[in-house]
Amino acid sequence: MSTTVIKNGTVVTADLSYKADVLVEGGKIIEIGESLSGDETLDATGCYVMPGGIDPHTHLEMPFMGTYSKDDFDTGTQAALMGGTTMVIDFALPSPGQGLLDALQMWDNKSTRAHCDYSFHMAVTWWGEQVFDEMKTVIDTRGITTFKHFMAYKGALMVNDDEMYASFKRLGELGGIAMVHAENGDVVAELSAKLLAEGNTGPEAHAYSRPPQVEGEAANRAIMIADMAGVPLYIVHVSCEEAHEAIRRARSQGKRVWGEPLIQHLTLDESEYFNTDWDHAARRVMSPPFRNQKHQDSLWAGLMSGSLSVVATDHCAFSTDQKRYGVGDFTKIPNGTGGLEDRIPMLWTQGVGTGRLTPEEFVAVTSTNIAKILNCYPRKGAIRVGSDADILVLDPEKTKTISAATQTSAIDYNVFEGKEVKGLPRFVMTRGHLAVTDGALSSREGHGEFVARTPNTPTNTALSQWKNLTAPRPVQRSGIPATGV
Ligand code: URP
Ligand code: ZN
Ligand code: ZN
Ligand code: ZN
Repeated sequence: MSTTVIKNGTVVTADLSYKADVLVEGGKIIEIGESLSGDETLDATGCYVMPGGIDPHTHLEMPFMGTYSKDDFDTGTQAALMGGTTMVIDFALPSPGQGLLDALQMWDNKSTRAHCDYSFHMAVTWWGEQVFDEMKTVIDTRGITTFKHFMAYKGALMVNDDEMYASFKRLGELGGIAMVHAENGDVVAELSAKLLAEGNTGPEAHAYSRPPQVEGEAANRAIMIADMAGVPLYIVHVSCEEAHEAIRRARSQGKRVWGEPLIQHLTLDESEYFNTDWDHAARRVMSPPFRNQKHQDSLWAGLMSGSLSVVATDHCAFSTDQKRYGVGDFTKIPNGTGGLEDRIPMLWTQGVGTGRLTPEEFVAVTSTNIAKILNCYPRKGAIRVGSDADILVLDPEKTKTISAATQTSAIDYNVFEGKEVKGLPRFVMTRGHLAVTDGALSSREGHGEFVARTPNTPTNTALSQWKNLTAPRPVQRSGIPATGV
């Protein structure tokens, strides 16, 4: 078997940076040290050698709002690799009444085209005995341990509190993790109808219909329900101080809660919705919507202080033509934005480049933390002997201007259009295969493999032990008084 050595770089992990060469064979890292040699040499002089990015939140070829998101596992994972991301976790989404295993079969079929490794989260879009039963099979035999619940999208994907509580309890018993899209769907539906009735039909009304309070309330509710049910909770696309505040408080009380901001919310703000070009504004419609600077500052502070754990994209790319389904009615604009190719360069530029994040913190929030939460560390998210050779060699001096004209994604625009980034991949390796060299793609369709995960121990074991220790117990009394007459 041939070997490849990455030479003269600085290895950056979540906890340590040091000069070393990295030797790869058979898709794995087999040695880390000084003066290594291999059959092939990749020169990393002046570069950081870090674990490939893991994007824990994508929707590739997602059926949503009467259409399918444009980037599929082929174009989406190519875009990921071009941006230094070597693993994506997509959401298998049963339609109402559809079984979990049936939905998974559909995602299995789509994902055969993946150019990098991937895993799935499961969505719980309805509740019943079949879902209850199949959860165990999904966790035990398919290695999918994380289940998302939509508290929004009333009449479509939304589940109610009783369904969520039942599902969370089941997940707690099975060692799974509950995930939520936190927005109060009932209030959003009411606000949307009111806005439309008042003649607010444009994309800016999307933002008005989903204010931060709506997200904060749902985050608090999900945290309470998860606590009652005894399950760890992961809150996706945290966009505002209200939701972040709920997560901070829960964590400070010892609850097992993680928050995931998106690169879009960190770097783009609500002014995008007031652009007089309808297409410009509609292309940025996603849920939750972009917020103002106060909320952005809160998200950055969360990453810096550790109250927020992971940066994702929620990559769900719709073309301009698809966005135009909502001309005259903002509630029909397909919700979603792209970011797979841009997450790493944007976060490096605006995080490390500004001093808000250290390189080690950058690795933690783009790769290592999620690998640990999802229990695929150190196979993924690590530069260690025995880890998969999913490697990003990042050149901190390389620059570009983000543009749809040069992107890999299949859509016709980019929400980061015109942004200057400094810090780009020199090489990207996916399980030992060199997929990107200085902006040139040499990835292989179908190279990506599914990564099965086991229930998340010890986190869930620790939580269930604590819940058991603190569970209500009858008081032992020496005597019971006679009942009154
Ligand atoms: O607007 C969004 N976020 N679209 C993708 C689906 C979801 O809610 O994650
Ligand atoms: Zn969502
Ligand atoms: Zn999403
Ligand atoms: Zn292809």
